Amino acid sequence: MSTTTYNNPDLIFSGKIPEGIVGWQSPSNIALVKYWGKKGVQIPCNPSISFTLNASYTETVVEYHPTANKKWVTFYLDRKINEGFEKKIEAYFETIEPIFSFIKQLDFTIRSKNTFPHSAGIASSASGMSALALCLCSIEKEHFGIEGSDQDFFKKASYVARLGSGSAARSLFGGVVSWGQIDGNHNSSDLWGTQQVKDIHPDFLSYHDSIIIVDAAQKKVSSRVGHGLMNSNPFAAKRFKQAQSNIIRLIKAMKDGDIETFINITESEALTLHAMMMTSNPYYLLLKPNTLQITERVFEYRERTGIPVSFTLDAGPNIHLLYPNRVRSEVKAWIDSELKQFAFNEMIIEDEVGEGPVRLSI
Ligand code: PMV
Repeated sequence: MSTTTYNNPDLIFSGKIPEGIVGWQSPSNIALVKYWGKKGVQIPCNPSISFTLNASYTETVVEYHPTANKKWVTFYLDRKINEGFEKKIEAYFETIEPIFSFIKQLDFTIRSKNTFPHSAGIASSASGMSALALCLCSIEKEHFGIEGSDQDFFKKASYVARLGSGSAARSLFGGVVSWGQIDGNHNSSDLWGTQQVKDIHPDFLSYHDSIIIVDAAQKKVSSRVGHGLMNSNPFAAKRFKQAQSNIIRLIKAMKDGDIETFINITESEALTLHAMMMTSNPYYLLLKPNTLQITERVFEYRERTGIPVSFTLDAGPNIHLLYPNRVRSEVKAWIDSELKQFAFNEMIIEDEVGEGPVRLSI
């Protein structure tokens, strides 16, 4: 593993401390091979890979001023002050101070909004942390002018985002993105995400993700606790090995346009993630009866029609239906006639593979 860090004690304003404003839009992502279990400072126990999403994103605008030593971070979510997030962001800023040494010379007013409804049970940590990391990297670039390619810029933003939320490391790039050291793959790293779009079959870059909201409640067990429980899960070592082999097989399948293998690996990954929760101690279960209703229908529909639609799950009961663009109209009709009844308030978020973050012009 590379030991690179971005710590830099020289990034201190020596003259007049500036003020300014910067904003980024950054997407969420959905993991195909799941990250579950971590060690050290946000280092994953196994590599993961995801589709970057398009419609589900966070927009974050950061205003910064010379510090007045009163309130370091003021945070608005959807125009409302959110004190819980203010505390979390201040704790995060403490951990990344060695990277951005100037961070305590400034006060921040951060305004964030998500395109997906707050009550949708969709984790906003990947989009939110990646948008914030990009804003900090832009402030650094503007005032310290460290030259580097765009690729270097996004790699650093991925490193910084990872320290806030592991899965956020994968939101800095478009298409298909991995994070974590993949056996025999020198382009992968535990420290930042890597875009894997080269040679991916176009079918996979056209993929849709229809997110069926089964339950919109906040999850009862946080991801942080879930990752921690992997330390004592009796199946953990075997699971980490399995993820290594699944990711290598999945990348090959995505290059070959092999949807059958893609379906086999991604559905197995989704169920394995939840199996890890059920086999932790304390054990817990995030799936709901309607989650199982939908998975049953996915199996049945695929068997009956041969249409390559499959599901994956995040750490919650909501179903992500995955399918290539060429079967979109059939799948859409089927969702409306058979699956909508299982969605909470008929809530379905239509998303697809996206191209990554965009700087806001403000
Ligand atoms: O990034 P975290 O710490 O919220 O963990 C997310 C883990 C999963 O979403 C369940 C899987 C993944 O790889 O995104």
